[in-house]
Amino acid sequence: MTKIDEETQWESRYKSGNTGWDRGASSPSLITQLDNKNLTPCSILIPGCGRGYEVALLAERGFNVTAIDIAPSAIKEVKGLLAQQGLIASIIKANFLEWVTEKPFDAIYEQTSICALPPENWEAYEKKLRSWLKPEGMLFANFLQTDQPGGPPFHCDIGVMKKLFSSANWEWSQKPPMRIEHPSGKHELVTILKHKTT
Ligand SMILES: C[S@@+](CC[C@H](N)C(=O)[O-])C[C@H]1O[C@@H](n2cnc3c(N)ncnc32)[C@H](O)[C@@H]1O
Repeated sequence: MTKIDEETQWESRYKSGNTGWDRGASSPSLITQLDNKNLTPCSILIPGCGRGYEVALLAERGFNVTAIDIAPSAIKEVKGLLAQQGLIASIIKANFLEWVTEKPFDAIYEQTSICALPPENWEAYEKKLRSWLKPEGMLFANFLQTDQPGGPPFHCDIGVMKKLFSSANWEWSQKPPMRIEHPSGKHELVTILKHKTT
């Protein structure tokens, strides 16, 4: 799929209201990480931020937030949400397979963005996540479980994720993944991964 196709595809979902992933509020996954103090104020990136409820919550809690999305409507909506609440974050319209940063982040909050990509792009995306994250930085991952072929959204089988986010580069949380219901009727498996120092 070309760059313009991807933008058009996601933008048309926003324009037609075909956004079945949208909770209309912050995910309980992020609220749990904040309540448990697994996530405390730091520089944090949200790739594929959608309408940005998590961007607003983190900005409100004192995080230095950068968020990217390919869909112009999503960018407009998250900027509007921040303005409405008098909050500040850096919002960037970009394709995350191309976006680079000179200043890696302490943490990344990834909520059902990898499932938006076809599996042939997953290796490139995992490399991007490493390039955006400081050594010892934390990835808060929310892997969508569709248990179905095809997509998007594509099924992020945990065995496949363990191979992709391999122990050469990532340390997986010892705790079993937490289950979070998804508005589509499916569910996410949530885990924390540490970017190993190479
Ligand atoms: C399934 S939605 C999840 C949105 C948000 N994280 C949430 O949970 O509400 C995937 C998001 O990724 C964005 N997206 C898809 N492909 C992208 C790409 N290549 N670069 C940047 N954003 C992308 C879409 O526009 C969409 O907002």
